[in-house]
Amino acid sequence: MKTVRSPVAAARLAGSGPHPIVLVPTMGALHEGHLSLICHAKILAGRKGCVWVSVFVNPVQFGPGEDFSRYPRPFARDARLCREAGADVLFAPKPTGMYAPDHSVFVEESRLSAGLCGASRSGHFRGVCTVVAKLFHLTRADIAVFGEKDWQQLAVIRRMVRDLDFPVRIAAAPTIREPDGLAMSSRNAYLATEERAQAPVLRRALLAARERLLSGGSLPASRLVQSVIRDISRRPLAVVDYVEVVDADTLAPLRCAEHNVLVAVAVRFGKTRLIDNIHIP
Ligand code: PAJ
Repeated sequence: MKTVRSPVAAARLAGSGPHPIVLVPTMGALHEGHLSLICHAKILAGRKGCVWVSVFVNPVQFGPGEDFSRYPRPFARDARLCREAGADVLFAPKPTGMYAPDHSVFVEESRLSAGLCGASRSGHFRGVCTVVAKLFHLTRADIAVFGEKDWQQLAVIRRMVRDLDFPVRIAAAPTIREPDGLAMSSRNAYLATEERAQAPVLRRALLAARERLLSGGSLPASRLVQSVIRDISRRPLAVVDYVEVVDADTLAPLRCAEHNVLVAVAVRFGKTRLIDNIHIP
């Protein structure tokens, strides 16, 4: 495995000819969710393709007061995990290598980014689109793999690729969970013991919502939202940021939960904000 830290120009390694370059963008602090994406990427790359993993804590997607400075950066461990997972290239640029001090061009998706996490994290998806666009250019990726755990991010990136004609295919991979159902996340490490014990309520509430919907056929979205809020709020440390019922493709709010439903939640435990979702096709 080649490790490319900086300068960025060095990242422009010879491509893999007719074989695909498959990119897995990450912010590091890798866990089994990330490793499953690498595994997926290896399958998509085939025997002769090349799997790139980027590790970059992207400053422009963090808002003021968010956890940019304390975001975990266990680089040596990440490099080892990438190697063991079979990545071919680890691309880990320095912030100064990615953004010029007077950097002034951003990529902004204006519709799917507005709701859900975008409503409380202003500028977040603009930062995500900007860095992902740069990573696509720098790595010359043919395929990029993203996790369904960040469903809105996946939808926004797909839209960016569609609307700006990026020559990149986007592949989605399912959410990997702890045995108690908590979606794996680099931020789970922030949880105090009691918060961690209560955090699986997100998954349980979403599974209960799916049961309710499947047994009823269709439901007013507001009833589904109320039931999820009620279930989550039974755990005293959980503070609901949002519970929304939206169309899984357009992310438009639904009045009636019937087809292609996504129930998405964001919940705070102390200073830690966790997200999860369930897709009910
Ligand atoms: P990060 O949070 O490190 O996630 C990198 C990728 O791993 C994303 O596609 C995310 O959806 C996926 N992922 C995270 N947890 C997962 C889980 N439990 N199961 C499956 N996949 C999971 O998302 C970002 O970084 C950044 O916004 C990035 C796209 C790299 C741009 O900076």
